Amino acid sequence: MGKKGGLSRTLVVVAVLLVSPWAYPAGEDCGSCHSREQHAWAASRHAQASLNPTFRTAFEAGPRAWCLTCHAPLSATQGAKALAEGVSCEVCHLRGRTVLSARAPTAEALSLHPVVEEPRLRTSDFCARCHQFDVPLRAPMEHADRIVPSGLPAQDTFSEWRASSFAPSTPCQDCHMPAGSHAFAGGHDATLVRKALEVEVRADGATRVLATVRSRGVGHAVPTGDPFRRLRLLLCADVECTRVLGSAVFARGLEPTARAYRVVQDTRIPPPTLQAPSPSRTLEIPLAAPLPPGATWRLVRHHADPRHEPRLPPGEVSLEVARGTLSLPAQPTP
Ligand code: HEC
Ligand code: HEC
Ligand code: HEC
Ligand code: HEC
Ligand code: HEC
Repeated sequence: MGKKGGLSRTLVVVAVLLVSPWAYPAGEDCGSCHSREQHAWAASRHAQASLNPTFRTAFEAGPRAWCLTCHAPLSATQGAKALAEGVSCEVCHLRGRTVLSARAPTAEALSLHPVVEEPRLRTSDFCARCHQFDVPLRAPMEHADRIVPSGLPAQDTFSEWRASSFAPSTPCQDCHMPAGSHAFAGGHDATLVRKALEVEVRADGATRVLATVRSRGVGHAVPTGDPFRRLRLLLCADVECTRVLGSAVFARGLEPTARAYRVVQDTRIPPPTLQAPSPSRTLEIPLAAPLPPGATWRLVRHHADPRHEPRLPPGEVSLEVARGTLSLPAQPTP
């Protein structure tokens, strides 16, 4: 009897696959039933991963098949629509025609599409596939299959997380998919970034300013991701910041070498550890002349390669994180 049941179940599954109205469904097909996920995802950077101006500008400087293996992984086999959809539902949720789910499928789910439980969806490992990779050795990047890793991380987000006190119990999803949200808020989200960073700027003597940025509740370095992500602290003579007196940059500095790149400096805010649960970085800004009265500061996050900034719309270039006024150092009493 068991055998017969097994056979008819197989036939049912085969029949479902053959008559399935959504064979190789595209984004809106999943979205016609999953509108909550569809709406959030459509406004996310994942949905725009191959079309947003920042990526396009960098990609057009040297289009390489390798880039699309993360920015639109299905474009190589599924063409223009998959290219436009970037990191789509299918990229994360389909294996063949089977839907991968983080939890055991309900009967209702199974009646609509084949579903298997894939616990890895809930782990940081799953995100590491794209959020952790080496700078390739200077190899022909138009051949995605011939990329040779250099041993130097271009993006180190997974390793930073693994070294932090958030590992292993708080994976990426806990912070970036709160309540299952598919908005994947990150460095372009003003609310998230402003909540995560605390800034203190103070004069230390007449010609030296110290800028401290502290991170709260971030499971990796700040900024993480691509090396051109950076925080710039500007010291200004006036409120509008028309005259810049000095600046400091919180970032990773890479320098090209004959075969790849090397890290020349790292002034980012490190990930939190048990020893340092609220990590910070203090940078010194030397001044050419004593601070004028009315001096101000602002902290700005830059998203893109500085060489591409003039060609990008302002919203793609930067985000103001915080601003303030600077009190002059107390005059030493004579
Ligand atoms: C970058 C990868 C990624 C993309 C893209 C993505 N998802 Fe998800 N999705 C996940 C992960 C991870 C979970 C599990 C989240 C959790 O349990 O906290 C999930 C969960 C779900 C769930 C289950 C929700 C629940 O209540 O358990 C549905 C339904 C879903 N996704 C649909 C979609 C649809 C539709 C799209 C496209 C519009 C999409 N996903 C795009 C990674 C992704
Ligand atoms: C015809 C409607 C329909 C389409 C099309 C559809 N789904 Fe579903 N899906 C459902 C329903 C209904 C559930 C069950 C919801 C529940 O149990 O809360 C479900 C459940 C899920 C789950 C969670 C598994 C579970 O047991 O709850 C995931 C993940 C999922 N779908 C992903 C997708 C993806 C990805 C696509 C596109 C490739 C897709 N779905 C297309 C209707 C659909
Ligand atoms: C404890 C919460 C937390 C965890 C865990 C966490 N993040 Fe974040 N992440 C944040 C916050 C908050 C920000 C925004 C602040 C900032 O600019 O870094 C952020 C920013 C980002 C950004 C934007 C970076 C940029 O500069 O554009 C990416 C990408 C990212 N996280 C990916 C990940 C991945 C992948 C993991 C898991 C390996 C992860 N995060 C784990 C909280 C977290
Ligand atoms: C198939 C590759 C891929 C996978 C898998 C993936 N991502 Fe991404 N993710 C990207 C790409 C590419 C971008 C940059 C999109 C762009 O061009 O702005 C990105 C951007 C992000 C951002 C937004 C950063 C910003 O600048 O605001 C966050 C947050 C993020 N991913 C989190 C996650 C998390 C959490 C997971 C695992 C559940 C995950 N990603 C899985 C490729 C991927
Ligand atoms: C192994 C996966 C992977 C590959 C390969 C890859 N990227 Fe990315 N890229 C990402 C992820 C993940 C992010 C988001 C991380 C962050 O927020 O800093 C990103 C972000 C970017 C951004 C910033 C997008 C934005 O919206 O601000 C640009 C530009 C970019 N990549 C260009 C490229 C180019 C050009 C190539 C090929 C030379 C490439 N990438 C190859 C994973 C990849």
